[in-house]
Amino acid sequence: MDRIEDLLGRMTLAEKLGQLTMTASSYAVTGPVIAGDSTEAIRRGEIGNLLNMVGAGPVHEMQKLAVEESRLGIPLLIGFDIIHGHRTLFPIPLAEAGLFDDAAWELTAREAAREAGADGLAMTFAPMLDVSRDPRWGRTAEGPGEDPYLATRIARAKVRGFQGADLAAADALAACAKHFCAYGAVNAGREYASTDLSERALREVHLPAFAAAVAAGVAAIMPAFTDLAGIPMTAHAGLLRDELRGRLGFDGVLISDYNAIAELIRHGVAGDLAEAAALALNAGVDIDMMANAYRHGLPAALDRGLATMAQIDTAVRRVLRLKQRLGLFDDPYRRGATPEAAAAVARRRRLARELGARSLLLLKNEREVLPLAASRRLCVLGPLADAGPEMSGTWWAAGEPERHVGVLAGLRAGFPDTEIRHAAGVMLEGGDDSGIAEALARIDGSEAVLLCLGEGARMSGEAASRACPELPGRQRALAEAVLERAHARGVPVVAILFSGRPLILPWLCERADAVLAAWFPGSEAGHAIADVLSGRVSPAGRTPISWPRALGQVPLFYAQRPSGRPADPNDYFTSKYLDVPNEPLYAFGHGLGYGRFVYSDLRLAPETVTVEDTIRVRLRLRNEGRHAAEETVFLFVRDRVASVARPLLELKGYAKLALAPGASGEVEIVLPAAELRFPGIDLAPVFEPGEVEVWVGPSAERARLLGGVLRLRVDGV
Ligand code: GLC
Repeated sequence: MDRIEDLLGRMTLAEKLGQLTMTASSYAVTGPVIAGDSTEAIRRGEIGNLLNMVGAGPVHEMQKLAVEESRLGIPLLIGFDIIHGHRTLFPIPLAEAGLFDDAAWELTAREAAREAGADGLAMTFAPMLDVSRDPRWGRTAEGPGEDPYLATRIARAKVRGFQGADLAAADALAACAKHFCAYGAVNAGREYASTDLSERALREVHLPAFAAAVAAGVAAIMPAFTDLAGIPMTAHAGLLRDELRGRLGFDGVLISDYNAIAELIRHGVAGDLAEAAALALNAGVDIDMMANAYRHGLPAALDRGLATMAQIDTAVRRVLRLKQRLGLFDDPYRRGATPEAAAAVARRRRLARELGARSLLLLKNEREVLPLAASRRLCVLGPLADAGPEMSGTWWAAGEPERHVGVLAGLRAGFPDTEIRHAAGVMLEGGDDSGIAEALARIDGSEAVLLCLGEGARMSGEAASRACPELPGRQRALAEAVLERAHARGVPVVAILFSGRPLILPWLCERADAVLAAWFPGSEAGHAIADVLSGRVSPAGRTPISWPRALGQVPLFYAQRPSGRPADPNDYFTSKYLDVPNEPLYAFGHGLGYGRFVYSDLRLAPETVTVEDTIRVRLRLRNEGRHAAEETVFLFVRDRVASVARPLLELKGYAKLALAPGASGEVEIVLPAAELRFPGIDLAPVFEPGEVEVWVGPSAERARLLGGVLRLRVDGV
């Protein structure tokens, strides 16, 4: 008999509910701490899964309790939030998204899986795929940015990277795509708030990345905490059971978010734990993370006819099947059996440094202030100049803050012959600005000022929405004083911003000579920043989210529909603000490097297509800059006339090309014509005849794009 059916036939109700329960260990705190001792319950087979435990020793100890002391010996599934690295931290996901580099995304996930597997872990609660167009929301930091196409590319790469070629391997992690879905559309950018959006927005913006994750074979999916039009995602049978499992064919494990099943009571859709548990089970949620709702609520739900044993058995089967696919039955100690070689860790740190540098987003570089010329004396100021632990950004997992390289340490190592003068000036937060005078005194005699400003690691991520996403504390006072003093002495100011979101800083971007958005570069931050400031590496980051001039523009994104009265400076009655331009301060895809690329010779082949065709989009690039650099070329489309108003631009591809100074090269982006389908009036995918504009260039800033036209044919039309 099949192992799973055999076990199921022998399991008591308590043991079945144990397999549907995941309890937190104490290594990390990622939600409200709910007291409870797991060891006895594991021995009794009444807890079958854990989270927030790290280290081969502790993991094997708990595994031993389950495998060798419980009645049925079912191994534990142990997961952790490995969002952008495990012990070695890579740039935060929003920064990585800006690389537009599928191979890099897959590689960092693969490296994180290797490191986490060596620590005994078998699941990560990643990738986070919530599209966000609102910098107030703290979790923008851990997501793919504003664009659904980019999010689908990230979804595929991350699932491949985490899960590897063989899910049973010692270095494979079950990926868990989250948070299904539309969590990034929380009302007013406020964490955990309701979401209300059209079916069209759901299908065009928020579902595609999850469909891509399912198609890539993602092992698990986590519903969002939020309600969508009044139905909490944890109980959303329509989207979890009918859409995800039915239409998209997801047959993996649905794991609730932390305590989310019990929170159905607070949502006001369940009167007690039994009702909450029944709603979640009926929607298809298999594992209850940290609510004990299944263990303590489902027995009563069964008695009250709110749930059935068949539903419980179906959920238990999916959990046992995942454990089997992970090889946990074959060898529960495989993960963590072999410590990693030091060379592997060193290689990983080098990768973190390389990607940390490439992911840096150069927003402004007036008079090519960067890369810095050889300098006798540099002045590095600001509360984030010597702040290694803050460099991790949110979700630092098992990252070791004391081992992160801060800016000051990176500069000292990267500019060994330069005198580096440092002062914090002000704290990250708080009203004390008594240190500004000392900071200003450091400027005299320096050849450049590096002003390190922004947010701390905890000011973005979960439960970290900000109604005013600007510089916290007295940092603006410091910046304005530094700009005035430095410019009075002819000293250029390079602002280096650390944040988990676009900060609203038009005044700083206007006055600083260069602005480098570092987001949070991870463990090797200081070395990465020094590599870019010195010119050893050209920054290649592009912003995956539009940077607003004013918060009043939010939600702000490039893929807007045209409106019947599109902005027209010569016509008063058109779509505009009286006080702020419509355009972002920096457009989606914007990012400077140390090269200067000229685009020419756009060719589309074929120009007339049917849905089965593949279009080859080619163009030439020439680097007319003084430094080698890597260019990211974006391919957008615009369907001018369709059965439904279509966005002014839609991202449908991108490619990268590195060129030495003076060199030229050809770029090709392959566009399957089927990608030009969109949800029609009834939301079913349609491919409509007519003209579609193709635009290629360095960002969503229309004025910088080369254009062409495709003709779509259907049945000869
Ligand atoms: C948190 C987060 C989720 C995370 C889980 C476990 O509340 O919402 O993303 O994976 O709990 O830490």
